[in-house]
Amino acid sequence: MPRTIQVVAHRGASEDAPEHTLAAYRKAIEDGADALECDVRLTADGHLVLVHDRRVNRTSNGRGAVSALELADLAALDFGSWKDREESPDWDGDPERTSVLTLERLLELVADTGRPVQLAIETKHPTRWAGQVEERLLFLLKRFGLDAPPPGGPHPVRVMSFSARSLHRVRAAAPTVPTVYLMQFISPRMRDGRLPAGVTIAGPGMRIVRNHPGFIRKLQDAGHSVHVWTVNEPEDVQLCADMGVEAIITNRPRQVLSQLGR
Ligand code: G3P
Ligand code: CA
Repeated sequence: MPRTIQVVAHRGASEDAPEHTLAAYRKAIEDGADALECDVRLTADGHLVLVHDRRVNRTSNGRGAVSALELADLAALDFGSWKDREESPDWDGDPERTSVLTLERLLELVADTGRPVQLAIETKHPTRWAGQVEERLLFLLKRFGLDAPPPGGPHPVRVMSFSARSLHRVRAAAPTVPTVYLMQFISPRMRDGRLPAGVTIAGPGMRIVRNHPGFIRKLQDAGHSVHVWTVNEPEDVQLCADMGVEAIITNRPRQVLSQLGR
């Protein structure tokens, strides 16, 4: 039987709905995504919110760094109209498409979903917070019973980061949580396909897969799974499938699933 490639919705079904909103994640779940990707950042008052950029300027009507704002400040902003107005100017707003989403709320959504949906959670800017991002993340995972795999089943969560130190902190506190080392380029230390100690999954950008297929084979020969981001074009989906990667992270989960015959 052909191996199933996991389809991961990048910031939710973020082509169809504003990224990191409840609407984007509901759509990804409806579309049949196997897992949901999100970026987590700490607010000034210690909440983990799903915002990609360091500042809120691109994806909201506010300004400033997430780390300098409290959750109540973020809750007063509109995180959806920047996208929706562009696509339909007379659109009048819906809180599920405009409100900032906390990690906690996303975990509740997943818990209420009637089928298994995994989470791929990326720690953003973890160095600034000296362990607090990971601490809060693991606290929430524990609260939702997601800090260990169910008996005989796969772990429902993996933690991803461009920071090896962040992944190390996660493994030290929760050794069973799989970690994904994200790569935008191939650093000299990685050339032979070896990842930081203890990391089992490689997370190369699509550009690496396209331009350096030999490196991907080295990762695979070293026994690593490969999760590729952000794969939106049909020819890139095909290339990933041909290379035998384990997961495709995409803004278009429905289209990728249908291309893969699912
Ligand atoms: O899933 C990994 C990918 O999301 C990393 O890049 O910039 O979209 O967070 P970025
Ligand atoms: Ca990300």
